[in-house]
Amino acid sequence: MASRYIIRTLRKSDLAAVRDMVIKTFVYHEPAGRHLRFTEPEFYKLYDRFAPYINFNTSAVAEVVHEDSKARHLGVVSCHISVPLSAPVDLEDLSEPRLLLGVFDELHKPFEDALKKRMISHDRVLHSLIGATKAEYHGKGVYKKVLAHFSEQVERDARWDAAVAECTSPITRHLKITQLGWKEECFIRYEDYEVDGKRPFAGLKGGASLVWKEYNRGASR
Ligand SMILES: CC(C)(COP(=O)(O)OP(=O)(O)OC[C@H]1O[C@@H](n2cnc3c(N)ncnc32)[C@H](O)[C@@H]1OP(=O)(O)O)[C@@H](O)C(=O)NCCC(=O)NCCS
Repeated sequence: MASRYIIRTLRKSDLAAVRDMVIKTFVYHEPAGRHLRFTEPEFYKLYDRFAPYINFNTSAVAEVVHEDSKARHLGVVSCHISVPLSAPVDLEDLSEPRLLLGVFDELHKPFEDALKKRMISHDRVLHSLIGATKAEYHGKGVYKKVLAHFSEQVERDARWDAAVAECTSPITRHLKITQLGWKEECFIRYEDYEVDGKRPFAGLKGGASLVWKEYNRGASR
């Protein structure tokens, strides 16, 4: 049976399905969360803190359509969600993601310096927050298409001078750098990361990366 993807901007009507898909995919397939044994309830809490700030213009989904006697829309199978970096999200009370948020704080230090140097304020930075593809569609190039759509939308949207992502998966790191041409500002090998004399990611290969892109729109502001 032939099937095709519709790649489009996120709609309000997608939100419930996207939320479920992101959480189920992340908890069982994202390397760092799996290592730390994130649970679904805690991840729902984390996601819901960001949900009110989702930027619809630059968030994208892939919907799959099976073409038999008539087209059957089978729903969203991949998504990329972005929010403003300035979103006032408080994660202090969440316990499970704390270690990973510590890694993100480290990743952000050189990025903050880079923003200051260029006089880019947080409210002009788009945070590429989270991406996920349903497990049965992994490795078919669908997220790559979603990212291409995301990238086109950000290029067009003069609200953003830069976009940034913390990549905890080697796949998103690879795609942001090679496909989108983003720059890696910082990389932390999980096995090297130490906090309070402990290595919480011991045994986990790879690392977390901060990648970003500047859009050079300053001259037109
Ligand atoms: C990350 C994720 C969204 C990718 O979705 P996908 O639809 O399977 O990705 P695609 O098929 O579009 O892209 C695969 C690309 O990754 C590359 N890739 C696959 N495994 C890789 C690895 N271990 N290291 C580096 N690149 C890898 C492929 O070669 C391909 O790139 P290419 O086209 O340049 O050859 C999906 O694996 C997922 O949902 N993971 C769980 C959640 C997660 O980790 N999210 C990201 C956190 S930052």
